[in-house]
Amino acid sequence: MYRILELLRRQEGFLSGEDIGRELSITRAAVWKGIKKLREEGYEIEAVTNRGYRLTNPETMYNKRELEQGLKTKTMGQTIYFYEETDTTNNRARELALEGASEGTLVVAEKQTAGRGRRGKVWESPLGTGIWMSLVLRPQIAPTEASVLTLLCGLATAEAIEAETGLSAGIKWPNDILINGKKAVGILTEMDCEMSEVHFVIPGIGINVNTASFPPEIAEIATSLYLECGKTVSRRRLVHRVLERLEEHYETFLRTGGFDAILEDYRKHCITLGKEVHVLGREPFFAEALDITPEGELLVRRADNGKEEVVFSGEVSI
Ligand code: BTN
Repeated sequence: MYRILELLRRQEGFLSGEDIGRELSITRAAVWKGIKKLREEGYEIEAVTNRGYRLTNPETMYNKRELEQGLKTKTMGQTIYFYEETDTTNNRARELALEGASEGTLVVAEKQTAGRGRRGKVWESPLGTGIWMSLVLRPQIAPTEASVLTLLCGLATAEAIEAETGLSAGIKWPNDILINGKKAVGILTEMDCEMSEVHFVIPGIGINVNTASFPPEIAEIATSLYLECGKTVSRRRLVHRVLERLEEHYETFLRTGGFDAILEDYRKHCITLGKEVHVLGREPFFAEALDITPEGELLVRRADNGKEEVVFSGEVSI
């Protein structure tokens, strides 16, 4: 039946049952059976007498097979686990990593029942509208270098969104992505390591893609790509773009042993720079965000004493 799907996908308009049968050397009855099965899987196939069949939702389908189709990466997403529902893709990816999953293994869910945000927050992950995904990365680096990976994921996601939607995606250091001032993407990176060695890193990326509305309490601060660009965005294509951009940056990071080569692109996207930030922590303070260091930290000038200081991670608000 997937051979029928491929023919329909390639066809611009209608394709007759006769042509499909001839192309695949199967009977008309077999064509009809295949069409029925595809419909059961969620493919919308229009059938018109004397014209044939036409796939009407090729871009909105989102499943393991669709994600595998046309992905142009070497490692990222070359193995995919797709869940209709799971607690959190970060947990699944972690389990898979402990069982030996290879570099670039991708875990995707249609819905998360216990999506995790940073600092113990809940990440709403409803069915059918967003990208909730985690990757298994196995870089041979020290744990201190790993925080840069989360910035790479932020940059890759921002670039992918810009390429797919034409929107301008700003990164709030370290890796929230804001569109027109509202958050559309969150990234939670978890790690398994010893003192001097990383076993694996799990970046979990959440993108509000086609969410049509948010509850009033977060509508002021949260948004989706659909709300910002006014059209439905293909999750399949966006996942592909994220993986492709990430693979390129990740390879550069491993080859050069650092963040320097990517820093300029990150700076261009970073909306925190030049702003006054509130650095939270045990002793919160106000400061001006000056730069991103080659280690991915935020360099700030304190408002109270004018001294420059490096902020490692955690929270700044603008
Ligand atoms: C944040 O607080 O901004 C981070 C949100 C991260 C959400 C993603 S969705 C995929 C992965 N699974 C989770 O439970 N969290 C991350």
